[in-house]
Amino acid sequence: MQRRHSGEPERGASPVRSMTLGRRIADQLGRWQRGAISDGDRSRRVSRTFFFHFQASRIHPFSLRPGYTLGLGILSAFLFVVLTVTGALLMVYYVPSVERAYGSTADIMYVVPAGRYLRNMHRWAAHGMVVSVVLHMCRVLFTGSYGNGRSVNWLIGIGLLVLTLLLSFTGYLLPWDQLSYWAVTIGTNIAAAGSDLTSALGLHALDPGRTVKLLLLGAQIVGQDALIRFYLLHIVLLPLLMAALVGLHFWRIRKDGGLTRPRSLAEGAGSTAGADGRGLILSWPALFWAEAAVVTLGTAALLLAAYTLDAPLGEIANPAAPDNPAKAPWYFLGVQELVSYSAFAGGVLVPLLLALALAAVPWFDRERRGIGIWFSDSKGLQTTVRSLVAGAGATIVVMAPAIIWGTGRAWLHSLHPLLPLLVNPATILAGCIVGWSWVIYRATRSTRCTVLAFSAASLVAVVLLTAIGLWFRGADWQFVLPSI
Ligand code: HEM
Repeated sequence: MQRRHSGEPERGASPVRSMTLGRRIADQLGRWQRGAISDGDRSRRVSRTFFFHFQASRIHPFSLRPGYTLGLGILSAFLFVVLTVTGALLMVYYVPSVERAYGSTADIMYVVPAGRYLRNMHRWAAHGMVVSVVLHMCRVLFTGSYGNGRSVNWLIGIGLLVLTLLLSFTGYLLPWDQLSYWAVTIGTNIAAAGSDLTSALGLHALDPGRTVKLLLLGAQIVGQDALIRFYLLHIVLLPLLMAALVGLHFWRIRKDGGLTRPRSLAEGAGSTAGADGRGLILSWPALFWAEAAVVTLGTAALLLAAYTLDAPLGEIANPAAPDNPAKAPWYFLGVQELVSYSAFAGGVLVPLLLALALAAVPWFDRERRGIGIWFSDSKGLQTTVRSLVAGAGATIVVMAPAIIWGTGRAWLHSLHPLLPLLVNPATILAGCIVGWSWVIYRATRSTRCTVLAFSAASLVAVVLLTAIGLWFRGADWQFVLPSI
């Protein structure tokens, strides 16, 4: 039988069959909207099209602007998928036992074909995810996108941030080299800092720090019990929780009516061609291509990083010879810097207050104006810039004397054991940031500007503290200027 020319439809073939997939989906979506398709048909078609399992069928063109979301939410989700796939492959070779963990990691690097690139991708995707989730949270904060009925999704987001940090931290121990061993030792010591308060209060029988540490490590030091606990958390419990929360997060975005957008666009004003009465267009294929661009750029960056930079693997862990300086993973270095003055204030009190303050943001700021606009308006932008400067100034003014002269901890302790817990760089810096936010509130009477001030000042303080821990702390946690 003679073959037909590829462009020519077969006799009797349905016109729908000869359409491209994109056109077919667009056609179906158009018919749903006109009510030409029944609910039964509609649900059958959604269940057959993978894309619509996690994306809404209609989207506002504003949500597609790269300068609005910066693609950070999708990037975070993509990195989680990369971590799951590369992690599953690494599990084929990795052995979670103190005797074999280091050797199996070295095998992955030097023996397993392409194992080095697999491990590199896993490591750099993990760091990338911490950065992209934090930046995504900043985008939501600075565009006021926690408002207008999105408080539940904001709380889910806080849960996702905590899970991202925990996933990264539990993975840190697995290579069982000096770096990972001592980073986790420091990290779990920070988690045990609650004991400082109970011992200052004379409640020696009550030791919450010891209990937390025991729960995490299964012993008082990092050993086989800790390795197996971290492994289980890292490969089963935390990824399952993360997958469930990401699913909820995506579902809430749809339930909340899509992404935030300026009020001026809410009722379909300035609609683009093909938009419905609410100004929404079909999400296929525009959203698909926007997300494909983020995934392609993310993949390219990750492959480049995996090819050019090796994930570190130092000497095998030696519990008898501490690394000096022993540093926590980089995203906890800001906390470690504060912990070096007061374990309780820097490791528990201030991080907990910061997390609670962030969680409370949607209930504190109920202003409707400026949602979906970066910094809300020119006053918001001005407040943010001033708060970045104020936050940087406060961090330098608080930290410089503490670094140069110390904090008089012994003297404060001689007055009352509780005093060093209450008066130290962590509490003073937190007080400065709260004070600054209060000044902004008094000056503007705007809860939005107050949130912008608090967020910008906290953000710059965290970045500067992390930089001090990363680049300016040497042996015995002494302050050193890096040689150029
Ligand atoms: C694994 C981590 C996360 C993933 C995969 C994720 C994914 C996403 C995606 C894809 C979007 C829509 C597009 C975009 O805004 O880029 C989004 C929106 C949103 N995310 Fe996340 N997110 C994560 C973490 C967070 C965190 C840490 C927060 C805040 C604490 C947060 C709060 C929100 C909110 C409130 C929205 C709706 C924003 C709007 O309506 O404009 N998310 N997220």
